[in-house]
Amino acid sequence: MQKRFFLRAIACAALAASATTAMAQDKFKIGLILPMTGPFASTGKQIEAAARLYIAQNGDTVAGKKVELIVKDDTSAPDVTKRIAQELVVNEKVSVLAGFGLTPLALATAPIATQSKTPLVVMAAATSSITEASPFIIRTSFTLPQAAVAIADWAPNNGIKKVVTLVADYGPGIDAEKYFKDRLIFNGGQVLDTLRVPMRNPDFAPFLQKVRDLKPDAVYVFVPSGIGAPLMKQFAERGLDKAGIKLIGTGDITDDDILNGMGEVANGVVTSHHYSASHNSALNKKFVAAFEKANNGLRPNFMAVGGYDGMRVIYEAAKATKGTGGQALLDAMKGQVFESPRGPMFIDAQTRDVVHNIYIRKVEKVNGQLYNQEFATIKDVKDPGKAK
Ligand code: DHB
Repeated sequence: MQKRFFLRAIACAALAASATTAMAQDKFKIGLILPMTGPFASTGKQIEAAARLYIAQNGDTVAGKKVELIVKDDTSAPDVTKRIAQELVVNEKVSVLAGFGLTPLALATAPIATQSKTPLVVMAAATSSITEASPFIIRTSFTLPQAAVAIADWAPNNGIKKVVTLVADYGPGIDAEKYFKDRLIFNGGQVLDTLRVPMRNPDFAPFLQKVRDLKPDAVYVFVPSGIGAPLMKQFAERGLDKAGIKLIGTGDITDDDILNGMGEVANGVVTSHHYSASHNSALNKKFVAAFEKANNGLRPNFMAVGGYDGMRVIYEAAKATKGTGGQALLDAMKGQVFESPRGPMFIDAQTRDVVHNIYIRKVEKVNGQLYNQEFATIKDVKDPGKAK
């Protein structure tokens, strides 16, 4: 009697185990690692919201498997990002690692992608070299050189010849500085000084005072998403605008997430970027309306679009490969061409990096709200960092 019970128990356990395996195989897991707390939490919030919107609009099954989005907060600490990625690969057996709110977080995790042959989709970080850190990295955000070169071409044709650069002192800031400076000088302009501020808890005041003393035509700025508001405030408080110094930059400074709260000082600022919430296309209007509706009126920024398009790349690759992972999934991500809320884009199969339009935009009031209004387009911009 006891023996029979024992055998039945074993049979049940075996059945349960095989059911679990089948269930695991019937799932398509995406590990989304983001800064959800701390100074870069807005990036995490935007990307998570965009990923959830994509799933709501496109269904939670792909290639016959149930999509499971596992969202983890790395608090923007690189060692935490790496540890979480390792756990997601080993324990959860995720098919894709995604997110990566800052360059150091993506770079720290690159070896995990390589060793485990897990595709890693960078939805936010934007230093040019990131895609070279692992053959398993794909990017759907943008690169700083793409944006920096565009504004360095615009500036000298619009009365801005002498510039001081002011950037956050890490990967994307160094890219933003270098590619702007080289191009401006090539175009006959002058860079009077190159200032770098700490990436975390920056005090902009002494740097802006230095800019004021140097009396350039403009200060060119890069700070990461979510950090632009205090800089704008200081710019006005130190009277740089009154002194006739213009502010230009990559679009990170007039981030849609916080632009409307910046007030008059932001009005008229010209920047270059790949996405504006006011981009004039039917697809973008639909995207913005759906995003705002699902998120209490929150306006999507360029981070949200990187997340939304990243999900598109993952879904389409999963469909094409019927839910298998690894190299096949990666290969199916390469070369995808599609319309994004930002405009047309594709994933360059050679570099695994994003190619898209860069727009020159001016902050203007539309129905009482500040928006980056696109007024010129540079088409199909490849990452200039890959030309070397
Ligand atoms: C990076 C982060 C940002 O918030 C941004 O706007 C651009 C680049 C980065 O760390 O790569």
